[in-house]
Amino acid sequence: MTEVQSTAPEAGIPGDPIDAVPTRPRIAVVFGGTSSEHGVSCLTAASVLRVIDAERYDVVGIGITRSGRWVIADAETIAGLHVTGGQLPELTEDAADAVLVRSATGSDLAVRQQSSLAQLGPVDLAFSLLHGPFGEDGTIQGLFEMMGTRYVGAGVLASAVGMDKHFMKLVFSASGLPIGPFVTITPAEWERDKAACLDAVAALTYPLFVKPARGGSSLGISKVEDESGLAQAIEFARGYDPKVIIEQGFVGARELECGVLGDPMGGTPVASEVAEIRMHTESGFYDFQAKYLPEEQVDLDVPANVPPDIADQVRAWAVRAFEAVGCEGLARVDVFVTRDLKVVINEINTMPGFTEHSMFPRMWDASGLPYAELVDRLIRLGLDRPVGLR
Ligand SMILES: Nc1ncnc2c1ncn2[C@@H]1O[C@H](COP(=O)(O)OP(=O)(O)O)[C@@H](O)[C@H]1O
Ligand SMILES: [Mg+2]
Repeated sequence: MTEVQSTAPEAGIPGDPIDAVPTRPRIAVVFGGTSSEHGVSCLTAASVLRVIDAERYDVVGIGITRSGRWVIADAETIAGLHVTGGQLPELTEDAADAVLVRSATGSDLAVRQQSSLAQLGPVDLAFSLLHGPFGEDGTIQGLFEMMGTRYVGAGVLASAVGMDKHFMKLVFSASGLPIGPFVTITPAEWERDKAACLDAVAALTYPLFVKPARGGSSLGISKVEDESGLAQAIEFARGYDPKVIIEQGFVGARELECGVLGDPMGGTPVASEVAEIRMHTESGFYDFQAKYLPEEQVDLDVPANVPPDIADQVRAWAVRAFEAVGCEGLARVDVFVTRDLKVVINEINTMPGFTEHSMFPRMWDASGLPYAELVDRLIRLGLDRPVGLR
């Protein structure tokens, strides 16, 4: 028999205005996950936990292990997640199960200890720090919607569109935002007729970037200089996602990024200072190593040393991209500036890298919003937001 003991404080009522939320709301920080960005998400959780105001918020950690189990992660476990000997951290499987229970007013968190459930009380806000599929792609956002849990960031559709580079490009181009030439190969198309897929790619000019359509952190991406490397690069990308996107490379383009935050009063989203990534990587692009491991391979200029009209253009289009996709909370928009000074949108990330040293927090810091205040702002935005259709 399952025994439920409650140690819960009074619940806030989802759907009610902010003043219905308890004075010290419980924030569930959700991190780890089954995607290839598990380790990066663990680093983010440690970083966020260091700055979250424990007097204002009652923070509880929910780790998702590589196998997909939800476990309770205490502050000590989270604090211990860091890079060791060049290896990203990973959650172990030995912690107790975390269980989210739908209540009449929202969701409660419980911990399973053998055959009994100990209730930890209501979750006022889920702060998901998951990257990649099953985290950043609308799936967990759908779960939160079903559970009546308020959460930080983009909703189901915006998350799904922001994760899928194919649909993202369709939305951008329909909104008048400039994108580069590309070809998508679905798993069915590849299995049906590989030669026809390779023919379709022949319309593009090399070098090409071959990517998992729903990847992140540059994992599974190859730069291909000529036809001889194409099929192998497609197979490599398919190891990360059966759906692959192939883009024409922007040779000699500069790579800029811009942070966008939702407005707490429901007004126009705001854009941060623009930053530039300057690479000296062997692969010639902003690859996984450069993103998370040795620092020497990349220079991050925050703010970017670009003419003001370029920075303004990037900011304006970053806000337009945010609205085109229907984002909420936060997003990072990445662009290329071509040699003839044209701005082209590369992608939007609805859960951008979010450690203290990541570009998104750094751009906001340079815009006058330090990391701890940024975390607080996102929590407030999430708590203010009604559940259900918005
Ligand atoms: N079309 C392109 N032209 C030039 N460089 C590219 C292109 N697409 C990707 N890159 C390089 O590869 C990196 C990763 O690609 P991106 O699409 O941003 O994937 P991810 O979602 O994994 O971050 C970019 O930051 C950039 O350095
Ligand atoms: Mg990117």
